[in-house]
Amino acid sequence: MIFLNYRITEQKIKGILTKNKSTTILQDVVDILYESVEKYNWVGIYLVKGDVLVLGPWKGKQATEHTKIIIGKGVCGSAALSGKTELVDDVSKDSRYLSCFLSTRSEIVVPIKKKNTVVGEIDIDSDVPAAFDKNDAVLLEKIADMLCEHI
Ligand code: SME
Repeated sequence: MIFLNYRITEQKIKGILTKNKSTTILQDVVDILYESVEKYNWVGIYLVKGDVLVLGPWKGKQATEHTKIIIGKGVCGSAALSGKTELVDDVSKDSRYLSCFLSTRSEIVVPIKKKNTVVGEIDIDSDVPAAFDKNDAVLLEKIADMLCEHI
């Protein structure tokens, strides 16, 4: 069931990338992710500007105060520095974690790369402990690959 859900999400995003206006693509992808997967409680895309991650489109119940994150800081900054997906099962146990929402229990950050250079990232918070696994990483890494041309 979960695979089918992810498959449908991937197909919907492919549709957006081929049909929607370029100006709304990132927000449309964020919206689809937020609406398609229940445990995705906050979804945002950060964009690399120099040595800082700047928050772009996002969707969730609350705005985050972390709209700019220095590369290397927090879970987001670590993923941007290493170029590798970060899966945090329990945010309270990760000393890098920059807290945004009291309800967040786990987080995944997936870099968006253009020819091995990180140009942005998908950041998702969940109120469910250990909400993210390999299946989420595979789905989001595919989407990050599809998005790189649109950044
Ligand atoms: N928790 C992130 C900061 C971004 S918010 O989750 C939206 C971090 O530790 O880098």
